[in-house]
Amino acid sequence: MYQLCPSILSADFNRLGEQIKILEKEGVEWLHIDVMDGDFVPSISFGMPVIKSIRKESKMFFDVHLMVSAPERYIQDFVDSGADSITVHAEACEDLERAIEQIRDAGVQAGVSIKPATPVNDISHLLDDVDTVLVMTVQPGFGGQKYLDECTEKIQELRELIENEGHQVNIQVDGGINDDTLETVMKAGANLLVAGSYVFNGDLASNVRRIKQKIADISEVVD
Ligand code: DX5
Ligand code: ZN
Repeated sequence: MYQLCPSILSADFNRLGEQIKILEKEGVEWLHIDVMDGDFVPSISFGMPVIKSIRKESKMFFDVHLMVSAPERYIQDFVDSGADSITVHAEACEDLERAIEQIRDAGVQAGVSIKPATPVNDISHLLDDVDTVLVMTVQPGFGGQKYLDECTEKIQELRELIENEGHQVNIQVDGGINDDTLETVMKAGANLLVAGSYVFNGDLASNVRRIKQKIADISEVVD
């Protein structure tokens, strides 16, 4: 099942509620929410109060991507704020297995993310314990960066592993997804497609319509 996951990091925060309504009206089901702490990544984005506030107005699936050092400290807070899925970085956790367990125990979906330099091998033992593996296709920290071509092989490697061993895991990609890279990542095996600037730059509603159609067209060739 393919999903376009718009990242609100690229939204116009002055019109955030309005833009989320547009996404919902266009049939978007997943909302990607990038939390940055200024430590794991250089930038700072937003946290619990913003998520709580948009949760009141939206029924979308809230996919929270924590680019935060020692995220174990905040899992319950993000669940209480309205997260439906929480993704932590393998590189950010002291005890990654424990962090995943904590997310599952809190009753939401669990994701693990790897930065471009982190091998698939570092998380392959967790494929039965997570719902999603997020393969970063740029260095985490900012929207609008260029897709790193060397990440395509990691997506393929992960897809092969999942198929060969029969796991039920989503492969999510995040960073630099646009008209030039969408087909590449889908062909490599990604099914959850995060997009920030691709969705929010220009007219939001028509972008979503066009990208969703494109995903549907590519999926017919890929599947
Ligand atoms: C980057 C974030 C991404 C970002 C993607 O650290 O995790 O979700 O918003 O932005 P684009 O799609 O513009 O590369
Ligand atoms: Zn993200």
